[in-house]
Amino acid sequence: MPTDASMNCMAISNLLKLSVELADVSDSPRLDVEIILSYVLGKDRAHLYTWPNQILSSLEQTRFNELLRCRVNGEPVAYIIKRREFWSLPLKVSPVTIIPRPETELLIEKALSLPLDQQISVLDLGTGTGAIALALASEKPFWEIIAVDLEFGAVALAEENRQQFGFDNVKICQSNWFSNLKEIQFDLIVSNPPYLCLKDKHLQEGDVRFEPLSALVANDSGLADIHTVVFDSYLHLKPGGWLLLEHGHSQGKEVRQKMIQAGFSGTETFIDLSGLDRVSVCFKAEL
Ligand SMILES: C[S@@+](CC[C@H](N)C(=O)[O-])C[C@H]1O[C@@H](n2cnc3c(N)ncnc32)[C@H](O)[C@@H]1O
Repeated sequence: MPTDASMNCMAISNLLKLSVELADVSDSPRLDVEIILSYVLGKDRAHLYTWPNQILSSLEQTRFNELLRCRVNGEPVAYIIKRREFWSLPLKVSPVTIIPRPETELLIEKALSLPLDQQISVLDLGTGTGAIALALASEKPFWEIIAVDLEFGAVALAEENRQQFGFDNVKICQSNWFSNLKEIQFDLIVSNPPYLCLKDKHLQEGDVRFEPLSALVANDSGLADIHTVVFDSYLHLKPGGWLLLEHGHSQGKEVRQKMIQAGFSGTETFIDLSGLDRVSVCFKAEL
């Protein structure tokens, strides 16, 4: 094994073999090591295959060892490298909120397919990293988007992400759902609220163990925040306005019932790539 004896520094090709250490914690051990190593070296993954004999500096080796240890302990790769791509946007992530999920891109697709004007007002409730608001802003530069989160840490993170892309049509602020939004009314409200039940077994598995419960769990079998968002959204939507919600795969029927109870029309649920109920939509009928 080509190492620098004085510092125990290893070559890229040998570091990649350490993926065996992740066999028990990851479905993609090789990829995880490649991503961590690329992050430490500040290079893309192609570099690892172009320069397999490159030996790390002692600083790089120490950092790699630390980060690999974090991954062996189960920490999500996205938290380790502080990045996750969503809708082709490289977002900064941190444990103040959840790591954006690929399923949430369904909500973006559906929002973009609604019959909406070029210039509308949009609200993203529980923005986290800003994923939904920023993805919409990247596609719709004339939409005026407000994004709120209860957690000040998430608000700061979303603002950092907003600034890195320079989206001037997005405003991020702290709010307990609608508490700081006064009487403002919107053309479109989108949200991926907490929707897991505290007893949900997924909370004990994989990456989710490292994400904040405040972003994942809601009372009333996971439906309490959905209830608040649905009923309060009715008051904050203009006539003809739309509500799009992400929810758990077993919650489609209950979400549609709540939408109808709140006064909405045109309820429909869409399935994600796994064939599971994931996003529901409705609109507030014109008077
Ligand atoms: C499931 S995460 C979704 C984050 C992001 N929208 C996404 O899709 O990746 C739910 C978010 O709602 C926020 N949240 C929870 N309770 C809230 C409340 N009462 N008011 C506003 N935001 C809240 C959490 O802090 C968290 O960032």
